[in-house]
Amino acid sequence: MRKVSALIALAVIVCGTGFAWVNENPSMPDEPKSIKAVMKEAMKNGLAKKVAEGKASDEEKMKVLNLLIDLVENEAPKGDATEWKMMAGTAMMNAAKVVVGREGAGEAFGKSIDCKACHDKFK
Ligand code: HEC
Repeated sequence: MRKVSALIALAVIVCGTGFAWVNENPSMPDEPKSIKAVMKEAMKNGLAKKVAEGKASDEEKMKVLNLLIDLVENEAPKGDATEWKMMAGTAMMNAAKVVVGREGAGEAFGKSIDCKACHDKFK
């Protein structure tokens, strides 16, 4: 089931960002925040970890989800582009599950924001 839902999320993400890929318009009004900015605002300061531990306020949860949407909309500086969408997309989906209050979502989210696992592949 996990695999299936991850694939559905990927399909949604790929469809959603497909337009941006084929139409490289530099004046896109909705430029996502850079990966570095997301790292600074969600990861380095421990905010995402706080969400994973269930200690964040609703506002903080939304903030992390919002930043992860930007993360997915970016392209990683290295590594496989599809795998990047999958990995960042899984983190985003799990953050969304936290926001809507799904059971066990915090733990799943914590697992999907493995700093080293992601950096080894994409940083
Ligand atoms: C889904 C993938 C992913 C996860 C998870 C992730 N990172 Fe990153 N991180 C990246 C990528 C990609 C870069 C490189 C960005 C670049 O060079 O443009 C990066 C860069 C960074 C940087 C350097 C930013 C800079 O200004 O150069 C820091 C600090 C960082 N991450 C911290 C963390 C911490 C702490 C965690 C875990 C809590 C984490 N990251 C989890 C993908 C991830």
